[in-house]
Amino acid sequence: MALKNINPTKTEAWEKLANHFEETKTLTLAELFTNSSRKSDFTITQNDLELDYSKNRITSETMELLVELANQVALKDAIESYFSGEKINATEGRAVLHTALRSNSEDEILVDGKDIKPKIQTTLRKIRAFSNKVISGKWKGYTGKAITDVVNIGIGGSDLGPDMVVEALRFYRNKLNVHFVSNVDGDHVSEVIKHLNPETTLFVIVSKTFTTQETISNANTIKDWFLRSASIFDVAKHFVAVSTNLNAVYNFGIDKNNVFPMWDWVGGRFSLWSAVGLSISLAVGFDHFKELLNGAEEMDVHFRDTDFNENIPVVLALLSVWYNNFHKAETEAILPYSQYLSKLPDYLQQAVMESNGKGVDRNGEEVAYQTGTIVWGSTGTNMQHAFMQLVHQGTKLIPADFIGYKKSLHGLTSHHEKLMANYNAQMEALAFGKTAEEVHLELKTAGDFDKINQLLPYKVFKGNRPSNAILFDKLTPSSLGKLIAMYENKIFVQGIIWNIYSYDQFGVELGKELAKKILAS
Ligand code: F6P
Repeated sequence: MALKNINPTKTEAWEKLANHFEETKTLTLAELFTNSSRKSDFTITQNDLELDYSKNRITSETMELLVELANQVALKDAIESYFSGEKINATEGRAVLHTALRSNSEDEILVDGKDIKPKIQTTLRKIRAFSNKVISGKWKGYTGKAITDVVNIGIGGSDLGPDMVVEALRFYRNKLNVHFVSNVDGDHVSEVIKHLNPETTLFVIVSKTFTTQETISNANTIKDWFLRSASIFDVAKHFVAVSTNLNAVYNFGIDKNNVFPMWDWVGGRFSLWSAVGLSISLAVGFDHFKELLNGAEEMDVHFRDTDFNENIPVVLALLSVWYNNFHKAETEAILPYSQYLSKLPDYLQQAVMESNGKGVDRNGEEVAYQTGTIVWGSTGTNMQHAFMQLVHQGTKLIPADFIGYKKSLHGLTSHHEKLMANYNAQMEALAFGKTAEEVHLELKTAGDFDKINQLLPYKVFKGNRPSNAILFDKLTPSSLGKLIAMYENKIFVQGIIWNIYSYDQFGVELGKELAKKILAS
């Protein structure tokens, strides 16, 4: 069944939401929190994950109306079409099945009449065997030495996901050093290879098309560098590829046994669960890679089976629509309180903005409402000393996701207590601010009588700034998988509501074409 084509702004729910917004827009979080059950009313727990969305400018009625909107755009049917492999990427004629890559279910999933599960299993076995061989030192380089360094060469979805996960799971890493080269800027590749030993380095070229300018340029530069010390016959021992373009891969000199498949039913920005995640498996071992997939599957099952009002990705998507389309907020901040997640905002920028940055609806018409949000962010507590001034006192409404962990990995308890005190304090400050009376009293108590008139307005925090607290027990491969899948499924829901196609990316093409012309001229 094709995705339905429903303009969300023409639904009854949208009209009700618009009226409801007018009625409630002046309500403050301070007022809403006079209800003592608010936190529990707006908290969803899913095993090791707790979403507290009570610090949002919503009432129970807001959520009911947003769920009504989800029903009126036929979200339930769309979710079934997504998981069952229908060609919901209609502009490219493809299914969207990154969820199948992490599914342990025995059910078959058909694409063009063929079950794709066996292919996925075979590839997972190949990733495991290859990773074990390299990690154990059985895979030898051209001089008989074991591999010490791995370089992932790719860009966009063939880089951001693996790079983010390898950094996020640094705690779980083995002794292999894993590096990433993506930019066509030659300084990037030069910096990465300058300390590498060609005898002990393995290069993983990741490119679905194997034609991407950046990736092929970097791969060729690296091959030239490699051939300064080795022979053409040694290429097969040091270069492997993840691609659909087999001819181009063989022409590069890669052994056909060392090519890992990609499939057109997995979009680049959702591909870290496939062989694109080979560098993840090399960095943390296959078992951890599999735990990552299992965590994502747990989130998929929750997303597919849970009622919308208790469904974490759905609730997050609905809140985002509420701010984007009714409060007219333009951006959302992603604020992980974990240094390990420093690359999450960059990763999500591609996932969210390449997916939902679309201005034409599923009817081929220009949309007359806002779609994809701008996402940005950085880790706490560093960002508190950088951009948070604007989030607290600036003129823009910026809903923020605070991602935290109950336990730290290294067990430095006092650091973790400070980190989490800041995590909670920031959300409290954003929500409730500081009134003029409180500032007045504070200055008076400090004896700064002459400064009261001068400073008072600058020290007031108006508050009423929304946030979600996304709290896991611990950063593990499994909880990371869950977190990523949560955002992937949120992206899906928003695309359905906005009546756009989330899985193509024609918007990146024009610049590429023009760059080619400029280069050739
Ligand atoms: O930038 C566009 C894009 O097609 C992304 O969607 C993709 O992740 C990236 O380029 C890399 O493409 P490839 O894997 O084919 O090299």
